[in-house]
Amino acid sequence: MDMFVVRGGTPLQGRIRVSGAKNAALPIMAASIMADDAVTLRDVPDLVDVRTLASLLGTLGLLVERQDDQSLQLEVIDNSATVADYELVRRMRASICVLGPLLARRGRACVSLPGGCNIGDRPIDLHLKGLEALGADIRIERGYVMASAKRLRGNRVFLGGSFGSTVTGTCNVLAAAVLADGVTTIESAACEPEVVDFGNFLRSLGAKIDGLGTPFLRIEGVRRLGGTDHTIIPDRIEAATFLIAGAMTRGDVTVENCCPGHMSAILDKLKETGVEITEIEAGSGSTGATLRVRGPQSLKQAECSALPYPGLPTDVQAQFMALLSLADGISVVTDKVFPDRFMHVAELVRLGARIHREGPSAIINGVGRLSGACVMASDLRASAALVLAALAAEGDTVIRRIYHLDRGYEQIEQRLNSLGASIRRVEDCAENVPANLQLTQGVSVPAPHIAVAASVAKTAAPQER
Ligand code: EPZ
Repeated sequence: MDMFVVRGGTPLQGRIRVSGAKNAALPIMAASIMADDAVTLRDVPDLVDVRTLASLLGTLGLLVERQDDQSLQLEVIDNSATVADYELVRRMRASICVLGPLLARRGRACVSLPGGCNIGDRPIDLHLKGLEALGADIRIERGYVMASAKRLRGNRVFLGGSFGSTVTGTCNVLAAAVLADGVTTIESAACEPEVVDFGNFLRSLGAKIDGLGTPFLRIEGVRRLGGTDHTIIPDRIEAATFLIAGAMTRGDVTVENCCPGHMSAILDKLKETGVEITEIEAGSGSTGATLRVRGPQSLKQAECSALPYPGLPTDVQAQFMALLSLADGISVVTDKVFPDRFMHVAELVRLGARIHREGPSAIINGVGRLSGACVMASDLRASAALVLAALAAEGDTVIRRIYHLDRGYEQIEQRLNSLGASIRRVEDCAENVPANLQLTQGVSVPAPHIAVAASVAKTAAPQER
């Protein structure tokens, strides 16, 4: 298992390019199950999650090949498989995105229920409600969703839940509706740019969909889908992460391949905190715009509420919390999409942040500086927040369980180091923990205990929570 050793305090400078959006690429790869001809996907980031899904699609009869220009070639060579294996699905929740495409194209799907995760419960009741409305027979057996349908029939579907709509649920139901008989309307559909990109991908295969980007979708079923050559939209979450990195380190960073139109809430909130962002090049065709961020000498407090699109994305909530931990005054962060998505609070506190939970919110009392410590990542975006805090902190920080990061950020340390950061990926062992973070340094531990502490440090695996 690896860990990061980060030496903080350097203002980041230079240019960095945003990759294609993970949360668009994953459902789009899954929907390639429905394509009767070859599919080319461009600007697909090389992530652990992408590789996991490619493996799963391989077991479902697709040939998936990465080309050296960041593109993937996908082609269905066998339509008989309908079981998505638990061993692969348990590794990545987004595997649930094969449910709708399998049911639509092959009339049957057996997909392991996704496990929970550190950001809260991840139910799929809305997915199943939508598919049943289209005529699917759904049973839950031995931890699997068993879905079947001789022919899916168009219908009116309402996908609103207690926390708004569902991103992957909209993708699953939309995929099923595309090959259903007749017309389907989906009300309270998710409007996220990744869902729009997913719908545009289906349209490029021959689907008939209206209303993308609005809560009301209208789909006219077609008999078959062909192939396509589709470029994945830029990742607005990664763009936000890089902008916040420039802001927190008081740097001057140029972020290429952004879609400001997908980031209005993010840019608005950043400007509210005093971060200076300018669009220095407009986007054209398939390349995004270029934004320049300069970190202010001081940050202003703000109140952030993570909401469904076009609100502030829940996937940047942790990164904003890291930013606000250095802002003057009291800030409040609330997550109305995943109310329990606060595993990063305790770790930011270890870095010197002053944050405490108050019901559904986190109250942040801004501090003048953060200082390095040993911390532990808990999920993809919390890991990103810890990297940001470590880059701004004085001294060294060790971040353990960085496998979470590799799921959603491609070569993150190389790319940030190209901006002047100092991040080393090393084996997770006591010898690699910088001396100034060692237990026995500067801590008056009675002599007999030092040997014990050192031996414990050597043998103890990072405690799984
Ligand atoms: C997608 O997850 C993203 N993942 C998440 O990004 C993102 O945080 C989330 O959308 C919200 O934007 C992918 O696209 C692969 P939801 P998804 O269904 O689709 C509740 C990341 O870090 N809900 O939109 O699983 C649910 O509990 C990941 O990149 C139901 O109640 O999220 C949550 O409170 C993390 N019933 C809310 O809706 C359902 O059937 C939104 O969930 C489905 C969801």
